[in-house]
Amino acid sequence: MSTVLITGANRGIGLALAGCFVEAGWDVHACCRHPEKATTLQSLGASVTIHRLDVTDMLQTENLARSLSGVPLDILVNNAGAKEPGSAFGKVPYEEWSRVFAVNTMAPLHLAERFVGHLETGSRKLIANISSRMGSIGDNDSGGSYVYRSSKAALNMVTRSLSIDLADRGISAIALHPGWVRTKMGGSNAKLETDVSANSLKELMLNLRPEDNGRLLNYDGEHIPW
Ligand SMILES: NC(=O)c1ccc[n+]([C@@H]2O[C@H](COP(=O)([O-])OP(=O)(O)OC[C@H]3O[C@@H](n4cnc5c(N)ncnc54)[C@H](OP(=O)(O)O)[C@@H]3O)[C@@H](O)[C@H]2O)c1
Repeated sequence: MSTVLITGANRGIGLALAGCFVEAGWDVHACCRHPEKATTLQSLGASVTIHRLDVTDMLQTENLARSLSGVPLDILVNNAGAKEPGSAFGKVPYEEWSRVFAVNTMAPLHLAERFVGHLETGSRKLIANISSRMGSIGDNDSGGSYVYRSSKAALNMVTRSLSIDLADRGISAIALHPGWVRTKMGGSNAKLETDVSANSLKELMLNLRPEDNGRLLNYDGEHIPW
């Protein structure tokens, strides 16, 4: 049985990803901050095991990794993400920066460190970091969003280093842009439904080409410049 661990799986893209992997017959370790409130996630069925995880709580992450010791993991999906309400020039919420950075940048690396052993014993051996086109320097032609953009640019760098550092252990790492998706973060004007984005992301993860390792990919497979 193939196994995936997904963070921020109670709503939005994370919840839709959990549903896609369940449909594909996978075992899903679904992490969220408040399992007791995650009613839709709870309704996905017996192949989903829900874990309490605030990804910025390093002790909780370590305890989770320990409690799953001996469980092979095929894919780690670092999906949990945060965005400041707005950070136009002159209105940057500096007090938000460290929180967003902890969720978007530090936590994915910490999870990779804690779950590398589980991934080594899985068969697909993939770390999929849900990043954003907004973290691409080459693609930035509209400016602003200093906090979110920099946290995702740094996540892209983390992803690249992971792909190099873990290559000897057979583990790949990719950064994925899910598209502009109708979620609390994406807003109601977004173009994509969560299930369309999640299904494309799942297909990408399952059909990764060797040249995709260490790259930033759009949900349709296109390479996005760093
Ligand atoms: N939607 C888009 O258009 C879009 C575009 C590009 C990239 N993305 C990326 O896609 C990913 C998912 O975003 P989304 O659109 O699905 O957003 P969302 O609906 O706002 O969901 C965000 C998820 O992250 C979780 N989360 C936030 N802080 C957390 C923490 N400290 N510990 C654990 N979980 C935490 C939230 O949990 P709670 O319910 O507990 O808050 C929620 O499950 C994010 O990484 C985001 O940056 C989204």
